[in-house]
Amino acid sequence: MQDTLTLSNRELDLKHLWHGNLQHDGLEKNPPLEIDRADDVWVWDAEGHRYLDAMAGLWCVNVGYGRREIVDAVAGQMARMPYYPLSQSHGPAAQLAAQLTSLLPESLSRVFFLNSGSEAVETALKMARQYARLAHPGQNRYKIISRHRAYHGFTMGALSATGQVLRKQVFEPLVPGFLHVAPPDHYRCEFCSREPHCNLTCAEEFDRVIRMEGPESVAAVILEPAIGGGGVFPAPEGYLARAREICDRHGVLLILDEVITGFGRTGKLFGFEHGGVQPDILTVAKGLTSGYLPLAATVTTQRIFETLNREKGANAKFAQVSTFGGHPCSCAAGLANLNILTRERLWENSARVGSYLIDQLRALESPRIGEVRGYGLLVGLEMVSDGNRTPMPEGQIIQIQKKIREAGVLVGRNNDTVPGLCNVLTVSPPLTLTKDGADVIMRAIERGLS
Ligand SMILES: Cc1ncc(COP(=O)(O)O)c(C=O)c1O
Repeated sequence: MQDTLTLSNRELDLKHLWHGNLQHDGLEKNPPLEIDRADDVWVWDAEGHRYLDAMAGLWCVNVGYGRREIVDAVAGQMARMPYYPLSQSHGPAAQLAAQLTSLLPESLSRVFFLNSGSEAVETALKMARQYARLAHPGQNRYKIISRHRAYHGFTMGALSATGQVLRKQVFEPLVPGFLHVAPPDHYRCEFCSREPHCNLTCAEEFDRVIRMEGPESVAAVILEPAIGGGGVFPAPEGYLARAREICDRHGVLLILDEVITGFGRTGKLFGFEHGGVQPDILTVAKGLTSGYLPLAATVTTQRIFETLNREKGANAKFAQVSTFGGHPCSCAAGLANLNILTRERLWENSARVGSYLIDQLRALESPRIGEVRGYGLLVGLEMVSDGNRTPMPEGQIIQIQKKIREAGVLVGRNNDTVPGLCNVLTVSPPLTLTKDGADVIMRAIERGLS
């Protein structure tokens, strides 16, 4: 008889599912939560326990769960035309491209749709390499500079840009031509942690590495405006502007990876607004549909678009096709999602409730919290064992995370990133969170620490 007729979901999971980034040995005793339904900031497991989802799934359900408007838009599109590829065209993709660019600086006008953040990054890297070769004839610009601790995705190129050795080492050798510099981690910075503020030496590293490598070999710098999954490190004041200046000076493209920071997460619509800069290439995913359906996009300037399209000959186009990228139902979800986000101006709530939550967390004064970092509803708690900033061992973080969950709140952690520094608890709830919701998160964290 078929397993589905005789076994529970949990048994089927244990027998057949392969979860990402999870050691399956011993999973019987410690199974993942089976989440069964969701509404606004709340999720319920199959046994009926309710949790405040302070990770918005995986940093993505920005408008909250249960939005009928998105469901209806997707159902309508499914009935009208469930699928057509973008080797031709369709209305939902054209309209979403227009709506997305209307939220961005005028210079970012071209949208290439994909299915996931990893694919958006992969595409950005490929566009950057092709552009750099066409824009600088006679040079071979292919190197990409990224940062340690950053996360850019699981595919080979995006993983090569990722600065987290624990996610990479068993898959090496990765793609050649990727270099990493120090992240802006003022708390543990080798350049300036003894000074009251970041002195931007970490940003100067882009300049040093580009000069040492030879600018004529460098295609792009890739950054998250705030490193997210690596442990929540917002770019300090002046950092993004400095990076932009250095890239311009050396003819290097600036790719901003806003897969987490986009669509209100940081208290502004996009993370680059904090730094007053504009990227040459922008990658977005998660909050583009708030996770209701998979969708991502790589957005570029008209100049990059034209450069890749004006050449004649074999390379006279961007030679990449994605069967499902820009799926009409995903685009319909994206349109409805962006309507909600902009109508309710959710980035403003993110800023307001986020700063309340961060203030409350800083006021906790627990000796186990070394630093509370973040802006908007993107928050990291650097957990320590003592007054010397010794990172808390991972086993202890897992216990605290578990206790917070027992108190009814789901928070994340920066697991499997770099050795010895998987000690950050992360909070990234839906942007509809109220102050009461923030209090629920606070109380659960307090209980987790007690
Ligand atoms: C900054 C950033 N870039 C890229 C990705 C990859 O996105 P996906 O998991 O949709 O492939 C992530 C995922 O968390 C991310 O945080």
